[in-house]
Amino acid sequence: MINLQKDNMNLSSLVIDWYKSQGRKNLPWRSNISPYRVWISEIMLQQTQVKTVIPYYERFLKEFPTLPSFMDATEDEVIALWSGLGFYRRARNIFKAKEIIKTEFKNKFPQKFEDLKLLPGIGESTAGAIMSIAYKKSYPILDANVKRVLSRYSSINEQSNSKRNKQLWEVSRDVTPANNIFEYTQGIMDLGATICKPKDPSCNFCPLNQICSSAFKTKEPLKAAKVLKIKPVKDINFTLAYTKNDFLLFKRNEKTFWDGLWLPSEYPRIHKIVKSKSSTQKNIQKKHKLTHLDLNLSISLLRYDKIFKVKTNIEHRWIRKSDIDSFGMPAPIKKIILSL
Ligand code: ADE
Repeated sequence: MINLQKDNMNLSSLVIDWYKSQGRKNLPWRSNISPYRVWISEIMLQQTQVKTVIPYYERFLKEFPTLPSFMDATEDEVIALWSGLGFYRRARNIFKAKEIIKTEFKNKFPQKFEDLKLLPGIGESTAGAIMSIAYKKSYPILDANVKRVLSRYSSINEQSNSKRNKQLWEVSRDVTPANNIFEYTQGIMDLGATICKPKDPSCNFCPLNQICSSAFKTKEPLKAAKVLKIKPVKDINFTLAYTKNDFLLFKRNEKTFWDGLWLPSEYPRIHKIVKSKSSTQKNIQKKHKLTHLDLNLSISLLRYDKIFKVKTNIEHRWIRKSDIDSFGMPAPIKKIILSL
């Protein structure tokens, strides 16, 4: 029988030693540590894997290397730097949080856990990660990777998600050390991502294999029973009017998805106006998966000799092909534009 209480202290020292010898110390957000850099990385990493995040993070930090340089960024600039990374609410939250830092925190990044949680996009675990990594203060975290490590370690296999989370937060608080919090936090994240993987965990190489109650026993993650959900499907018809160099795009103003991104027209009234002008027409069909929705995109391509005015209150503009990196666009739309 494994004695969890005795092993909790052991867990942190094993993780810390492992991080020192095997951790991914060359990840870009693990050097030149500043609260701002840690914040941007933690938001990007919330729903996206390390290898996908790295180029986006580097591009973002090249454009806005410090908090003062980020203070005057527009929402469009932030969304443009996010284009292709998905879950755009994160980008809008970063923009909103920056505005709050300006007005409520006098341009200084908050240093207290409770203040961090006032910023949009920062919940309990992200606030804990920023406190531990940026300020070296001991706070527990519980992101998806850490949840997996700790549920295997403690054999928590509660069916209800809320009960399971409550128990795992308790375990996380119990195992979080007072010292070496930076190494511990990064280490347990790395362990979850590289050793204690969802399928086929590498227990042979795990520093916790002597104290983990699931070591060598499980191939599947312990998790609450999944309810089979059928994803809704949405058809969208776009009309993309373009010339040799310019594309007519509209800023989407819908809370459901792609809010604030620039897209071809999806408005029937505008389709009529645009189609009434002479043009050559081609159609593209594309499927695109969002987490909560499958999209069937149908895009009519209308080529014109020159740009024209469109009378509408919907925010729109002709965007030069060479400027499209300055505008937030979903990856499938950007791909089509770049192919024309
Ligand atoms: N996932 C969430 N935060 C992370 C970090 N700082 N390093 C690696 N993976 C992470």
